[in-house]
Amino acid sequence: RQTAAVPPAQSEMPSSAPEIVVLYGSQTGNAEGVAEHAVERAKARGFAVRLADMADFGKKEFKEPLNLMVVVSTQGDGDPPDTAEGFHEFMHGRKAPKLDERTRFSVLALGDSSYEHYCQTGKDFDARLEALGASRLHERVDCDVDYEEAAERWIEAVLDRYAELGGGTNQADQEQPVTATASASQPSTYSKKNPFQAEVLESIVLNGRGSDKETHHIELSLEGSGLSYEPGDAIGIVPQNDPAYVDELIDRLRMDADCDLGDGRCLRDALLTEYEVTTLTRPFLEHWADVTDAAELRRLMDQESRDELRDWVEGRHIIDVIEHFPVEQIDAETFTKALRKLPPRLYSIASSYQADPDEVHLTVGIVRYETHGRSRGGVTTTYLADRVEPGDTVPVYVDRNKNFKLPQNDAAPIIMVGPGTGIAPFRAFLQEREERGAQGQNWLFFGDRRFRADFLYQSELLDYRRKGLLNRLDVAFSRDQTDKVYVQHRMRENAQDLYAWLQNGAHFYVCGDGERMAADVHQALLDIVRDQGGLDEEGAAEYVRELQQAKRYQRDVY
Ligand code: 2AM
Repeated sequence: RQTAAVPPAQSEMPSSAPEIVVLYGSQTGNAEGVAEHAVERAKARGFAVRLADMADFGKKEFKEPLNLMVVVSTQGDGDPPDTAEGFHEFMHGRKAPKLDERTRFSVLALGDSSYEHYCQTGKDFDARLEALGASRLHERVDCDVDYEEAAERWIEAVLDRYAELGGGTNQADQEQPVTATASASQPSTYSKKNPFQAEVLESIVLNGRGSDKETHHIELSLEGSGLSYEPGDAIGIVPQNDPAYVDELIDRLRMDADCDLGDGRCLRDALLTEYEVTTLTRPFLEHWADVTDAAELRRLMDQESRDELRDWVEGRHIIDVIEHFPVEQIDAETFTKALRKLPPRLYSIASSYQADPDEVHLTVGIVRYETHGRSRGGVTTTYLADRVEPGDTVPVYVDRNKNFKLPQNDAAPIIMVGPGTGIAPFRAFLQEREERGAQGQNWLFFGDRRFRADFLYQSELLDYRRKGLLNRLDVAFSRDQTDKVYVQHRMRENAQDLYAWLQNGAHFYVCGDGERMAADVHQALLDIVRDQGGLDEEGAAEYVRELQQAKRYQRDVY
């Protein structure tokens, strides 16, 4: 197309070749990884393309018509990623840009179909861009936790559409698989698709006598794997289902455990290692309504029964649905058709590679509870606690998290809020900062139920405090007195200092429970900034939003 080896400046591109903007909103880096891959693919196909983060995208970007490929994930209750919150609000507010059909878009929504508000943020942007006047070039694609293949297909399909409009070379040349992790260099060949068998070196219960929690400190060997990681990254564990549960499931379905799935796989093995057989998803319920033709289940699946369905599903698993809405006879293929792949679970790494490159440590809260007359357990946590022991191996990979990172600047102060298993990445942060000799100040808020039984890593943390690596350590034990005391109470008690640290450039980190703790800590932060900064609500919200966009307020919540 051009003779010079130097690529033409943007203005020299033929006007028919539209520049594509791959716009992403990402919490842990999955959407960002997909977006980066889309950029590579667009380049390979001859498009002018650029990558944009919703965190930096605003009004001025909409001066000219845009060719958008939007990749965005959804958090918990249908919320956007933290760094995309401002953009989401802007697009839905009164100041949203007025667009016309020259702005084209397609949305790839990442999500988890076991949540009620599946892919909500992607749906929001898809509907909103259309409502603002832009034209949808390709229909939205929603993808579940194993998003890679659907993402790949969406990228090529959207690029095909842009090619039809006169951009690129329209050549779908050699496909490169999307990587689950963002582009960070990782010499190892082990990945989500090809996990490393890591030997369990140690598994210790951290809680003492009298605790009603079971938190394991697990040490895995990475020796010989070539895997490396940074503080803030997570380990993905590919679990196996509980054999007792699987056997009961097969029993209830009156299927033969050894029967062939039509492709050489045996049913029991597949249910143990390949499919998710506990968590309910909407696709499974829809399939089951078809299979059983149960009127009651059909009714529950109606739009009008939404709230009723939510209540019914609460605390129930696939086996409960099968028990409640039994089927006369079903073959293995029909049963497995609506099951999704067993997704790996991510655990924040609790150790520093710099401090010990051959090991990786995890802090895992074992999930056990009883609902609807049945004892239940978390698939991966009970796998780790009950079904593997030191000497066994577990399949693992490193899942990078670009959005939970120590400051580049070792002199920057950090404030860490990590109650319960939320302590994990901060143990890694502290190990790393000690190893590096980082001079920045470190302040940790830790909380759990009881001082005597639940002060995780107590001796290590007290040692760090004594040595001065931890400049401040504030703890909240919620059940040692009649009134609950939580980490956010300790933050509020220290409002003046906390604000001074922020003004001094501190980075603020939160890890742990995302259902209530993270929101309560967020509110405490807003109140502290408002009161100490002499701001009003709006001013405080702006201050905190700026912290987020500057990546000085980062969260890893679950
Ligand atoms: P609780 O179980 O006594 O309510 C780690 O799990 C610690 O986080 C526990 O002390 C737990 O207290 C506490 N926790 C529970 N809800 C919380 C919330 N909304 N904010 C902060 N901490 C919370």
